[in-house]
Amino acid sequence: MKLMIGPSSRGLGKRLSMLLPFDLIIFEWKVFPDGESYFRLLSNVDDSVILVHSLSPPQDKRVVELFLLLKLLRDYKVRNIILVVPYLAYMRQDKRFLDGEVVSIEVIADLLKTYDIDRYVFVDVHSSEVLKFFGDRAVELSAFPLIGDFLLKYQLVNPIIIAPDAKAFKYAETVAKIIGAESDYIVKRRDRSSGAVESELKEFNVTGRDVILVDDIISTGGTMVNAIKMFREYGANRIFACCTHGLFIGNAVVNMFNAGVYDIISTDTIESYYSKVSVAPIIASAINLLLNKH
Ligand code: R5P
Repeated sequence: MKLMIGPSSRGLGKRLSMLLPFDLIIFEWKVFPDGESYFRLLSNVDDSVILVHSLSPPQDKRVVELFLLLKLLRDYKVRNIILVVPYLAYMRQDKRFLDGEVVSIEVIADLLKTYDIDRYVFVDVHSSEVLKFFGDRAVELSAFPLIGDFLLKYQLVNPIIIAPDAKAFKYAETVAKIIGAESDYIVKRRDRSSGAVESELKEFNVTGRDVILVDDIISTGGTMVNAIKMFREYGANRIFACCTHGLFIGNAVVNMFNAGVYDIISTDTIESYYSKVSVAPIIASAINLLLNKH
């Protein structure tokens, strides 16, 4: 068994390699002046390989790189592949929300099927529908227990864990259990064409309390900004914005700080300054479990 770390997961891959007893596959990676990626193996592969490659921005480029790496492994006769995709791009388009739309994640899943991947490991996929496209070969891990543990480092003042929409409430419940706090959620509406989000006003008793907002993804930050502003008005003490996948598009971070967030916490499924929690330990445990079952 060998470990191959794709270009988008170098930090996470390094942390993972310290937790797993497998040699790394060494390869050359470069990007030609026109933007096309190039890979060349510089070490032997093995019969079985764990490939770790996040589909973080620029997603389309990362998708192509993933298929170049898979083709390389198959060309060099790798028989078993465990594919770890810490951030699965296109997973939010898991159904036809409007007539005429393409179900993007189904396209990604169909393309991956042509490589007959043995097992997939994902972290906090957007919905259970996403997993259905990958069948019983997919394992989903959650970063929220790790985020909960991380939050224990702060001296939290009468904390309340809040999801910015009903879908994320299960994450809030996980974190709340670890911290020993209550949890709740906001009712959010998103305009499917413009992407604009609106939060429904609901009574929350947060005066003087630390509010921990948790969501799977922070993208433009719009969802979090709405929630942060709302809890500022309600007299919250510190407000934390936590997520597994921190895309932080455009001015997301600045907008959240301008709205009054105290701290932002994300993981290394997408690497950034705010990747304060590593998902390496849960990926390592999942791989050990999968290998012991073989
Ligand atoms: C959507 O349902 C997700 O769970 C997130 O709430 C969403 O992706 C966040 O997007 P944004 O940061 O652009 O508001």
